[in-house]
Amino acid sequence: MGLPFERVWVTGASAGIGRATCLELARQGAKVAATARSEDKLAELTEEAAPLAGSITAYPGDITDAPRMRDIALGIQQDMGGIDVALLNAGTYLPLSIDTWSDESFADTYRLNVQGMVHCISAVLPVFKDQGKGHLALVSSIAGVKGLPTSAAYGSSKAAVTHMAEAMRCEQAATGIKVQVILPGFIKTPLTDKNEFPMPFLMPAEKAAKRIVSGLQSNRFEVTFPKRFTWMVKATAALPDFIYFPIIGKLTGSSRG
Ligand SMILES: NC(=O)c1ccc[n+]([C@@H]2O[C@H](COP(=O)([O-])OP(=O)(O)OC[C@H]3O[C@@H](n4cnc5c(N)ncnc54)[C@H](OP(=O)(O)O)[C@@H]3O)[C@@H](O)[C@H]2O)c1
Repeated sequence: MGLPFERVWVTGASAGIGRATCLELARQGAKVAATARSEDKLAELTEEAAPLAGSITAYPGDITDAPRMRDIALGIQQDMGGIDVALLNAGTYLPLSIDTWSDESFADTYRLNVQGMVHCISAVLPVFKDQGKGHLALVSSIAGVKGLPTSAAYGSSKAAVTHMAEAMRCEQAATGIKVQVILPGFIKTPLTDKNEFPMPFLMPAEKAAKRIVSGLQSNRFEVTFPKRFTWMVKATAALPDFIYFPIIGKLTGSSRG
């Protein structure tokens, strides 16, 4: 069985989850429009996809540049005749705790994870409206479910992304635009390679890509993996505060007392 969609715009395509997902989509026959800032890495990616059933075409750009995102979405529409799915994945994690609090880290995180996401949505919505249908898949994080140590900026930015997706999902029946949120646990990528803390159930990016491509074909709102870990996080988040905070302190070694 082939994919139920053909033309997919992927942001954050030059590394990690985005790169692996572009390749998995192309393996399964999709025409992928790949966006990231690193043109050299995108060129390598398009070359790697050459023998695959589908294709990957580079549309380089910085998602914090709103006019560039609009040009890219219109460019894909012209070149490919439309966009079936926008998998908005570009994002970053800058650790931030009370000891290292900084306006700059917060602003950088929000500029990319929240405002950049908004620029991409603003760019693709006119295309979806023209078509009378579309599919938005926003890559958030399980870290956005409830506060975790060093995640004041990252976790709150991802909570905003999840909330955005929930709000738009409420309008799905009226707009014809399918909305999903992707909530990964720990995935092995250049982003997590920098982490010095233990990452339970760390999943290879290629496996995460398969989960995403399968999730995009479902009608579920939330696509989350590895489930053993993300469900544990959700169950812990549902505990009363007087249990949640001491448990998180113990599990992460972040409590000082
Ligand atoms: N890895 C995990 O464990 C994990 C867990 C939960 C959620 N996530 C989320 O999954 C997404 C991908 O994470 P990852 O681990 O694959 O990260 P990664 O390995 O650091 O890759 C990030 C990608 O985003 C692109 N990017 C960064 N800034 C950009 C900008 N301003 N404009 C356009 N593209 C930009 C990077 O390419 P360029 O540098 O070439 O622009 C790269 O392709 C992120 O949203 C992250 O928050 C990851």
